[in-house]
Amino acid sequence: MLFSISAIRLRGVVLYTLLMGVLPMVGWAQGNVQPRPVPGYPLASPYDQRIRALMAPMSLEQKVGQMTQLNLDAVSVGAVYQLQEPHRLDSAKLHEALRVRQVGSILNCGGHAYDLQHWREIISEVHAVQGPAPSIPVLYGIDAIHGANYVLEGLLFPQPLAQAASFDAELVRRVAEATAYTTRASGVPWNFSPVLDVARQPLWSRVFETYGEDPLVVTRLGSACIQGYQGSNPAGMHRVAATLKHFLGYSMPWTGKDRTPAYIPERLLREIFLPPFKAGIEAGALTLMVNSGELNGIPVHADAQILTGLLRKELGFQGLVVSDWEDILKLVTVHRVAEDYRDATRMAVMAGVDMAMVPNDYRFTDALLDLARSGEVPVSRLDEAVYRILHVKFSLGLMDRAEPYSMSEYPLILSDSLRLLQREAARRSWVLLRNRGAVLPLKAGSSLHLQGQALDDPYAWNGSWSRTWQGVDTLWDRKNAGPSLRDVLGNRFSLASTSSDTKGPLVVVLAEKPSTEKPGDLGDLSIPSEDIETARRWCRTHSGPKILVLVQNRPRILNGLDTLFDAVLLANQPGAAGVQALADLLAGDYSPSGKLPYTYPAQPHSLLTYDHKWTERLDPSFGMEAFRPAFAFGEGQGFWPVRYEKVRLIDTLLRGMDAVLRLEVSLHNTGPQSQRETVLVMVGDSVASVTPSFRRLRDFRSVELGPGERRQVQFLIPVRDLRFVGKDMEYVLEKGWLNATVQSFNLPFRWEP
Ligand code: GLC
Repeated sequence: MLFSISAIRLRGVVLYTLLMGVLPMVGWAQGNVQPRPVPGYPLASPYDQRIRALMAPMSLEQKVGQMTQLNLDAVSVGAVYQLQEPHRLDSAKLHEALRVRQVGSILNCGGHAYDLQHWREIISEVHAVQGPAPSIPVLYGIDAIHGANYVLEGLLFPQPLAQAASFDAELVRRVAEATAYTTRASGVPWNFSPVLDVARQPLWSRVFETYGEDPLVVTRLGSACIQGYQGSNPAGMHRVAATLKHFLGYSMPWTGKDRTPAYIPERLLREIFLPPFKAGIEAGALTLMVNSGELNGIPVHADAQILTGLLRKELGFQGLVVSDWEDILKLVTVHRVAEDYRDATRMAVMAGVDMAMVPNDYRFTDALLDLARSGEVPVSRLDEAVYRILHVKFSLGLMDRAEPYSMSEYPLILSDSLRLLQREAARRSWVLLRNRGAVLPLKAGSSLHLQGQALDDPYAWNGSWSRTWQGVDTLWDRKNAGPSLRDVLGNRFSLASTSSDTKGPLVVVLAEKPSTEKPGDLGDLSIPSEDIETARRWCRTHSGPKILVLVQNRPRILNGLDTLFDAVLLANQPGAAGVQALADLLAGDYSPSGKLPYTYPAQPHSLLTYDHKWTERLDPSFGMEAFRPAFAFGEGQGFWPVRYEKVRLIDTLLRGMDAVLRLEVSLHNTGPQSQRETVLVMVGDSVASVTPSFRRLRDFRSVELGPGERRQVQFLIPVRDLRFVGKDMEYVLEKGWLNATVQSFNLPFRWEP
């Protein structure tokens, strides 16, 4: 049994099963049964009465329609993936989908971003075709993962990994709030974001969509993002529904290639991959999207233990579960666990999928109707799914108003305040990894040598999921792309025109071509050898200061190239304001504050994370120095040192599970400018019944220090936050010595029950 259910939960499960088995017959008919929430598995929605009244007269066809999600292409003029331009809806296809099939959801754009006016026309036309209440409005979903990227007026913010370099939950919340604002202005109320996958495999093509390799960082930033999207009332005209994705274990494919098998034992799942989703559920996320891959041999779309046992009964999630793209079909064609589509439909719906992102036809709708008529899928299961779908639609206020709100409600679109937030987020994305000889900031009047493709291309700064899925369209991903780095640097510095002057600073920009999902699969994490050789050649012919700028989806192995440079700067796709933020940094307008939210490997077969095990530090001479990344998790500096003058533990002996570890950290900003510093508090077990990690991040905080300012920062860490998943898969803390580490300070302390 993969996920143990404690006795209390088991009793609750039995009661729940009875309730759900009985309720639909009784509840639907009368529409007035108040279900009793089952312990650990809350059942009733605050809209319960209205949901049940709406469902009572629903036919099987209507219920199955609600569980169907179609791609916008499928109701647009032209062929799927080859729509006519300019985009417009096909009234016949729309009528079939909404009036005949009564489809519950539509997603995506028709291959590229649209302006607000066109989005609002689409949403209004969809609801017009549906006709007046009490028809059930379509729930429209979109990927708006770094700003409202598919809205041309949507500012492109840093990608999640770049935002994570700030280690600042409040910043992430504000960016999410701005994203929700513009997304809802377009009429779309559902965002397939945040990615809560913990990035433990740097080869994976979607590392840039995550908040990095540490579960605490992903948990805090992911929960802040959900708060930014949904606020306290997701029905608000500036709010959208969040999506916890991709549940579960998607981000550690064994081969590093997207949607290939992940082998993650339960202890690791619970220790590393589950906490962000658990927190996201507690944060009230309305929806969840399933991992397209397989986990320990079972495709998650067909795994009832994960989608019902763990997600529903143990974690108590009550929102809607949507499949990922075409993943019911892939149970047949790719995973090969289903004989045919009908069988795949049965497997997925019975495992716990409430809505299928089909997304280009009615196979799912037909198959599920047949399965319901034959009784292979009980009507109670359809009712459960539809109940959740309607709960989301009510929670978003769609049942009272589905049309877009007036544009007068959105005065901040393209406003200075949103642009300031975009600039701040872009600045916080930049990580200064080396500044040998304090070559940065550059001296005013410097004459720069510039090298690199991204000097003129906008693509790498924004990444995928920008104005198109992959983010490299020569038309759409150049729209409103803003000035190039070359132009912006040319405004701040003189640009050396010939190679004769080799004494000025050499700025080499090495950028990874944007890609996501399968198109982003790599066979080699190294930066392409031709790029390495070109950069080496530039360095050989240059005697002045050398600055390497890395703009990447994931940490590409440098094979020692960085050692040729005096300064190394990195951003994981800082968004459309990233170019200006870099120029401002090079000019010294602000001191960089980003820190790496992941480990940057030095060698292709040493892809370790910072919280590795002691055996992974053991080197051939039996020392403990085998862990030598190119750059460490949490690494990053400003122009001037921020000194950790003192770190103090208030107590070195803690007793009981309610104890609190208290630290005081005394900081000193030695610079003449304000500098922001992120303090990371790591704790490691000296001995534990499960092999302890070298250390684990247990708290962090980003603080702004004025010029020359000294400040003491307190940390209060409940000892229950120091627990780990023990031998019996339950969280445990064991008596003995632990070690708190802040920068170079190591502070032992003891805990006893
Ligand atoms: C994709 C992605 C998922 C995205 C969905 C809709 O396949 O895996 O993250 O939200 O399809 O675009």
